[in-house]
Amino acid sequence: MTISKLAQEIKESPTLTLNATAGRLREKGEPVIHLGAGEPKSKVPLDAILAAAAKLTTADIRYTPTEGIPSLIKAVIKYTADNYQRMVGPKNVIISNGAKHAIYNLMVTLVDPKDEVIILAPYWVSYPEIVKMVYGVPVIVDPEPGSFLPKMENIAKAVTPRTKVIMVNSPNNPSGAIYPEGLIAEIVQFCEKKGIYLMMDDIYHKLTFDKQTTVSCYKFAKDNVESSKLIVINGVSKMYAMTGFRIGWTIANEKIIEAMINVQAQNTSCSSVVLQEAAAGALKGVQSGVENLRLTLENNRNIMVNELRSFSGVKIIPPDGTFYCLPDFSAYNNDSLALSKFLLEKALVVTVPGKEFGLEGHLRLSYCGSVKEITEGIARIKWALDPKSPSEIFVGDKRYRRDWK
Ligand SMILES: Cc1ncc(COP(=O)(O)O)c(C=O)c1O
Repeated sequence: MTISKLAQEIKESPTLTLNATAGRLREKGEPVIHLGAGEPKSKVPLDAILAAAAKLTTADIRYTPTEGIPSLIKAVIKYTADNYQRMVGPKNVIISNGAKHAIYNLMVTLVDPKDEVIILAPYWVSYPEIVKMVYGVPVIVDPEPGSFLPKMENIAKAVTPRTKVIMVNSPNNPSGAIYPEGLIAEIVQFCEKKGIYLMMDDIYHKLTFDKQTTVSCYKFAKDNVESSKLIVINGVSKMYAMTGFRIGWTIANEKIIEAMINVQAQNTSCSSVVLQEAAAGALKGVQSGVENLRLTLENNRNIMVNELRSFSGVKIIPPDGTFYCLPDFSAYNNDSLALSKFLLEKALVVTVPGKEFGLEGHLRLSYCGSVKEITEGIARIKWALDPKSPSEIFVGDKRYRRDWK
């Protein structure tokens, strides 16, 4: 018996693997600092908890319509009107088990075998794997040297008659970059003109810094949602710190949503009714938690960027949003897998290799943890990399020696 060729080709999730490694080291009592995390630490909004608890206490927990419960769909419609200035109807929305599931179902819906999907590096690690899982071909467009943004002409050059979808994620995981309004306008108009589907993954769009906001992609799209090729993915995971609830959604024209409902009906049916109620509670409830999280992350971003600026060999473009940054460590080691492994072994700090995101020589560092984790994590990285560092450091009462050059 063999594992399918497809499954053999799918890479394990590097972030989930790192979580497991960090967990094992912690169990052994090692003081690991996790700068690889992908979820905020703030508490889930009370309105979400109360809504979920109220549903649970009915003891009437059943399937829901595949596309989601009406109250959550209504809340998503209002969210789209408030945040995108675009009125969509209930037939333009489907609720899935997280944004990742929404993206997978969307790809099943749009991509035929050998169709090409353009992915802009640096990209979220799951994009190429999801495309491969539907027998599509990921086509990577590199950013301009020294930047995290692609040039429109390079995106256009990557288009072939097989191009089906372009995936855009702004603010971007892993770089934290916000795509400027001009670039979003160019990409949206290009896709509309060429008849290419454009997936906007907006999962971080409320977590932006320095008074910057993301532009609504609908501003540049056709007025009629039904004739537009634009698809927006979002969810509650990041902005409400509700990663464990697994609720995301897709906004698209009715034809796409209808097909996605058929796809979802045959794989997971609906999302859990309890968790949908929680997501509706979060969307309809007090929103101050989102702003508090944003402020905390902005402060953490400032601290991390300042700490990294004290390295002579690190080049950093300050992130505009999210809770990640992607500094260039190539002056120390251009092999980001080797560097990340070295930092975990020697400094007990988890980082994610830039290679996983299509940008070698970089490391993705998260600042969604505590200020102490950020400052201590960066100090340990500096100790491990800077040859002028003292030969030993103490972590708690444990002594670590530098036995490398
Ligand atoms: C860019 C991007 N899109 C989607 C997701 C998935 O979100 P969810 O937890 O809702 O599946 C993530 C999670 O890390 C992400 O970084």
